[in-house]
This record gives sequence, C-alpha cells and structure tokens, in this order.
Amino acid sequence: MQLLTALAVVAAVGLVTADYNTVKVADKEFLLKQKKIYNLLYHVSQPSLVNPTLYEEGRSYKIEANIDSYTNTTAVKNFLYLYEYGMLPRGELCSIYYQKQLKETEALFRLFYYAKDFDTFYKTALWARVYMNEMNYIYSFYTAVTRREDTRFIQLPPIYEMYPYAFFNSEVLEKAHHAKLFGKLDSKKFGNYNTYIIPANYSGWYMSHEYDIEHKLNYFTEDIGLNAYYFYFRLDNPFWLKSEEFGLQKWRGSEYLYGHKLLMTRYYLERLSNDVGKIEDFDWHNKFYTGYYPTMTYHNGVPLPQRPYLSKFPYYKYGYIKDLDDMESRVSGAIDSGFVLDATGKLISIYTPEGLNILGNIIEGNMDSCNRDFYGSIDLFARKILGFNLEPSTPYQIIPSALELYGTSMRDPAFYRLYKRIFKFYYYRYKMHQKPYNKDEIIYPELKIESFVVDKLITYFDQFDTSINNGLMIDNAEEAESTLIKVRQYRLNHKPFSFHLAINAEKPMKAAIRIFLGPKFDIHHKPLDLAESAKYFYEMDNWIVDLNAGANKIIRNSQDCSFVIPDPEPSEVFYKKVLKALDGSENLSYTERLYGFPERLLLPKGKKEGMPFQIFVYVSPVEGEMFPYMSRVFGGNKFDNKGLGFPLDRPVFDFRYDGSNMMLKDIIIYHKDEMELNVTY
Ligand SMILES: *[C@@H]1O[C@H](CO)[C@@H](O)[C@H](O)[C@H]1NC(C)=O
Ligand SMILES: *[C@@H]1O[C@H](CO)[C@@H](O)[C@H](O)[C@H]1NC(C)=O
Ligand SMILES: *[C@@H]1O[C@H](CO)[C@@H](O)[C@H](O)[C@H]1NC(C)=O
Repeated sequence: MQLLTALAVVAAVGLVTADYNTVKVADKEFLLKQKKIYNLLYHVSQPSLVNPTLYEEGRSYKIEANIDSYTNTTAVKNFLYLYEYGMLPRGELCSIYYQKQLKETEALFRLFYYAKDFDTFYKTALWARVYMNEMNYIYSFYTAVTRREDTRFIQLPPIYEMYPYAFFNSEVLEKAHHAKLFGKLDSKKFGNYNTYIIPANYSGWYMSHEYDIEHKLNYFTEDIGLNAYYFYFRLDNPFWLKSEEFGLQKWRGSEYLYGHKLLMTRYYLERLSNDVGKIEDFDWHNKFYTGYYPTMTYHNGVPLPQRPYLSKFPYYKYGYIKDLDDMESRVSGAIDSGFVLDATGKLISIYTPEGLNILGNIIEGNMDSCNRDFYGSIDLFARKILGFNLEPSTPYQIIPSALELYGTSMRDPAFYRLYKRIFKFYYYRYKMHQKPYNKDEIIYPELKIESFVVDKLITYFDQFDTSINNGLMIDNAEEAESTLIKVRQYRLNHKPFSFHLAINAEKPMKAAIRIFLGPKFDIHHKPLDLAESAKYFYEMDNWIVDLNAGANKIIRNSQDCSFVIPDPEPSEVFYKKVLKALDGSENLSYTERLYGFPERLLLPKGKKEGMPFQIFVYVSPVEGEMFPYMSRVFGGNKFDNKGLGFPLDRPVFDFRYDGSNMMLKDIIIYHKDEMELNVTY
C-alpha cells in the first residue's frame, strides 16, 4: 500500500528524520494474519457459499468447550448468556444507537477482544461469521482488529466495500444488483475479472433544486472517502468503551471536540466555494430548517428516514428533547461555573489542562464521562432527534437514520448543524472563558517567517472506481472469484502542491509549523475580520522541523500533510499482493496507518475564475516534552504540547496576529473541468 512513505519534510537546509510511521516489510506471520482477516470479511452474508471449509470450521467451533482459550471468562459467559437467550437475527439492521443492540455488539466485541491468541480470535470470528448478524459482526470485528495487540497494523478492507448500502444511492445499487444488464462490461483495466462498471451520480438529481441549495455540496457530503474517514474516526475511540480497559486515547474527549470542529470548518469552506453562506443555528423547540432526502435503501430493502425542510420535531421526539434540554443546561452550567459534578458528588475544576478533555467526554457521553447519569450524552440524543428515525416496533426492527450509522452520518446536513452547535455553545464558550493568549504566549521573535509561497492551487473532478461486489449477494463461489462490480463516480481532487517556507531562526531549534486555511470573504464579498473568522480556520497541517541557525528553506508537499492519506487500494488488488508476498515473489510493505483524512479533500473546490481564501502559517519553538500521538487507526505522530488548534483555538479579540513567526497570506484556488484539465496540463 502506497501510504505515507514518511512524514519528514524535504528540507534543503534543516534536515529532518522521521522516527515514526516508518515503512515495514511484512513477515510471514503478518501475511498469514492479513490473509485470514480478509478471508473472514469475504462475502460475510453468504459464508457457506464462498469457502465451504472455513464455513465448516466456523460451524463446528464451540465457544463453551474452549472457554479456557479466553483471558476473561466473565466476558465469555456474558456473551453466551445473551446468545442462549437469542440475539439479533441475521439479515436485520444493526446500529449501536439502540440499547439492546449495543449490548450485543459490546458482548461480541469483548468475546473477540479477550480471545487469548490470534488462533482463538480467528476461530471465534469464523464462528461468529456463521451465527451472528452480519452488521454486528462486521462492526465488532473491525473494532476488535483495531484494538487487539496481535492485529496491530493489519489492514482492513475499505468500509464502503463491505457495506455499499451506506455509501451509494438505491438507484446505483439497483443497477449493481443487475450488473449484467445495466453495467458496462470493461475488463481490460482490471486483470482477469469480468468487470461491470456502474456510473453513479450524487443524490438529488431527480429533484428540482428550486428550494434546495444544500444539494450543491452533495459531491462533498456524499464523498465515500470522507464518510469512511468518519467511520474510522469514531472507530478509534468508540464511545461505548472505557479508555483504560482497551487502551484508547487518553485525550479522547478533546479529540472528539476538535475532530468534529475540523470537519465542521472544512464543510463551511466548501459552502463558501459554492456561494452558500453560514451554517444556520437551530433550536430544539422550533422548526429545523434543512431537510435531508437520502435516496438510499438498506440491504434489507428498508429506506433511510427522510426529513423534510422546515420540519417541526415529531411528537415522539419530545421525550428526547426534554432530556437533551436538561443535559445541555447542565453542560452550559459547568462551563460557566468552571466545575463539573462527578458521580460521587465532587466538583472538578475544568479550567485546567485536562478540562477540555473532561468536557469532551461528558458531551459525547462516552464511558470516560465523569458522570453519565447527570450529563447523559448530547451527541447521542441529538442524533436521535435530528435523524427523524421512527421508533422501532421491537428492539430488533429498527430503521436507523443516517445519523445512527457512522458511514452515513456526514451525508445529513444536520450533522454539521449539530457540531456547529456543540462548537459554538460548548467548545467555544469554554474557550471564551479562557483568556486570549497574551503576546508572550504566541509571539516568538527568535523565529521569523521570511517568505511563504504556495504553488498554484487547482481542484478538479476526477473519476474513481469502487469495487462493491464483496458487499452484494452472489449466485455462487465462481462468480465471487471472477466478477467485479465497480461504481464509477466523479470525486473532488486537486493537483499536488507544495508549501515553500523560508524561516530564519536565531539558533538551532526544533520548531512546530502549523498551516490553517480560512475564509477571506463572506458570500456577499465582504472581507472577513480575523477576529470573527479565526474560528473557521481549518488546520491543514502541523509538523515538527529541526531548524538550523540562520536561513532554512522548507518544502512541504500536500501528500505529506500530517493528517491525510491517499484513497486505499481496492481489496482485490491488495489481497493479490498479500498472496504474492506469501509465495515469496514480492514484498508487502505497510505502515502503522489504517486510515486518514482523504488527501483529495485537502482543498475546498475552487472556482474557474479563482476562489479567494487565506492561509495562516505559524511557527513556534518546541518547548518541553513532545506529545507522542499514537492511534491504532491514524498511526503515530509527534506534535508539540500546545493545545489542539493552537494558536487560533482561543478568541482573537483586538490582538493583531503580526509577530514575525506568523503570516496571513491571501491565496486563490482555481477549479478546472476535467476536459480543460486534460488539455492544459
Ligand atoms: C472481563 O469482562 C468483564 C465483562 O465484559 C468486565 O467487566 C471486566 O472488567 C473484564 N475483566 C478484565 C480483567 O479485563
Ligand atoms: C447523472 O445526472 C445527469 C443529469 O445531471 C444525467 O444526465 C445522467 O444520466 C446521470 N447519470 C447517471 C449514471 O445517473
Ligand atoms: C524483500 O525485502 C527484503 C528485506 O526486507 C529483501 O532482502 C528481499 O530481497 C526483498 N524481496 C523482494 C522480492 O523484493
């Protein structure tokens, strides 16, 4: 996999070595595991069809007889207790936003997690593949692979291949189901497979857009890379797991807040490019402005719930609204008073280095929340209300809304309204109580940005193919081996570009460079004041360099930005590589990263005549210990120990960002049509 080869900067003067995210060559043991993991995820809904031997192995495995092979007998007993009573049947929909289903997911995950070695894990998964609900199986399995010690760095198939129903519209899947009739046969490019190409649009081209401006952003909100990113982001720190027991991020609460803030600001920039203004505020007791009309159907034929424009929240949501009102006022109270109330009745101060993390935990309502009974979960309740899901008739007959599955959450415009609300009323409110940084905290005269230049920025739409056959029903094993069904879609992309920096340092030092992209004008062409717009700046990159005394030239390529990753290879390509490596004809290399923010989406769409934005670039010395970031999903990295979003994370009042170590620069993003692009470049 062609992942980040290294996060090092290409430095002409100051040279930097990366001691993290190094590329490793897979050994035999790793390759065998990798192969088994892919086999376990191959046509999950038809296990008896594709590999009868594995099916038999799974069917005949007995958990109870092997109870000594698990390190936590309680967890196994809990699972068996549920299983004997009856769990979610195969074929039904599964979402962790429903209590009973979450209990089952948790139990299955723990069963996987506490298998004492890889072999037991493998056998348990073979068993579960036969007997468990498919959606529950996939989600629990992905969670287990990202948490177990012995599956470190193992790749998982892209989630949109596993469950295309959450990533493509019904008309596309309808055609895919009859690919031989509706697909275009094109096997030249794709090895020996019979390959059917299904062209796809983004949703809404059936509808009149007279009153719906939100559709202009469909190419962004429905981007499968973006939605997969969100799935992995939430997979990294599942709200239903305790960080200590399963080794999650210690700073999960801050990461929850900042990660969503980034997505919200990135979306806002995309709105500006499309001449769509601010994200509206909303109120639980008034009509909700933005509608959502997913033309999507779950695998069992049930359509995703819709929300018409200017809807009042239905009466069956009033209970949630009451609870949410209470939670919101408790959280606001904590922010304004400076204290949260923990479960023992003790007050904990939140204007401390851990404060934001504590706040994030109570807003998400995750298992590290210091008082879940009191603060509940704003995140969960808001999804219940905004998604317009219908209340289920039995715990097993659910119709989850887009907001109740991570793979679809970002498609609903309500997602961004919700996180704007959380940002504005909690995160930013908290930051308003902190004093703005004083000059000494952000101005470092020993560093001077002499120049900052960016290559010409050009966005365009590029054709991408996605294999979805693994997520569809097939007729027989032979078909599985020989047929590819690919969805062809245009996706936003940009020409690679570099930042060119010249930095003067008084003495040799380690420094952190941060690059933020923000608005220049509002949609009425009024220039925005930094004091107002700073909170909408999107952090594109943040990395560490070693500077020499004197002049340093630094070139940073867009592909090396800390948070981004190229689109992953299709599974059939990756799996072939694993097989080749196993027979010794090729090496397979891998990095610590499973996923990242799609590199394609680093820039918002430009305009033909140019779309103005501003870049804020900031360099500061690394003081004290570095912060070693380690995530099972996003890999390792090293940052300085300043807060997330520093120095734009606190209110910018009348202070001018005019120190020598920072620069605000106007830039223009251009957009080219595909045809034009082929001619000109
Ligand atoms: C074992 O599992 C149970 C239930 O899943 C959990 O409450 C307990 O903390 C676990 N014990 C250990 C030692 O991990
Ligand atoms: C995509 O939308 C255009 C209209 O905007 C339509 O002409 C075309 O047939 C659609 N293609 C597919 C594959 O749905
Ligand atoms: C694979 O990598 C090893 C070193 O890690 C090297 O010795 C070997 O020649 C490589 N094999 C191939 C086929 O490239």
